[in-house]
Amino acid sequence: AYTAKVGPSILSSDLSQLGRECERMMECGADYLHLDVMDGHFVPNITFGHPMVERLRRCIGPDPFFDMHMMVSRPEQWVKPMAAAGANQYTFHLEATTNPGSLIKEIRESGMKVGLAIKPGTTVEELAPWAGQIDMALVMTVEPGFGGQKFMEDMMPKVSWLRSQFPSLDIEVDGGVGPDSIYRCAEAGANMIVSGSAVVSSDDPRSVIALLKNVVME
Ligand code: DX5
Ligand code: ZN
Repeated sequence: AYTAKVGPSILSSDLSQLGRECERMMECGADYLHLDVMDGHFVPNITFGHPMVERLRRCIGPDPFFDMHMMVSRPEQWVKPMAAAGANQYTFHLEATTNPGSLIKEIRESGMKVGLAIKPGTTVEELAPWAGQIDMALVMTVEPGFGGQKFMEDMMPKVSWLRSQFPSLDIEVDGGVGPDSIYRCAEAGANMIVSGSAVVSSDDPRSVIALLKNVVME
């Protein structure tokens, strides 16, 4: 059994107001915050790193759950700094490491939950050997790097397969998820829903978050 959770991605929000935007999302019913870290190397874009996360944690208080989506080439390097900054979950890309097993161990030892992400070109069979050791699998539904891209429906078989094999695993979808694509995600069995532009640029983020959550819970 798993529960539906919605985690806005603040990538498309006003990053100069990051703290305020995160507070606004929590006030609108977000269950957690999905924070996109990009290093300009693993993906062709740069966002922010652990110093920003540390300030954000101080500003927003201890409660909101920070799911760090680490789109970086050296995920090993940021485990301790992110834990110290107040991250709750460290979601790294399978494509970025040669030793997922030791990275999973390091993340756990530093007190965070473990998320494992795959890009659209990576098969779910490559993730499967690690599924028993992680808290969450992230199936990317766009090529990572930018917000506001089109949802890739052809990733849904990965989600359904994972759900059939690992009934209690948290499965997150990220990229182009909004009111139009949420039905597909729910049907496939995703339960952690990242939504960036659909939530952040809406006039009524509260309703969008509620809608996404309701569809998944049904
Ligand atoms: C893409 C990021 C996503 C993105 C989601 O590389 O990992 O989290 O910000 O934004 P939307 O929902 O606009 O695709
Ligand atoms: Zn993301």
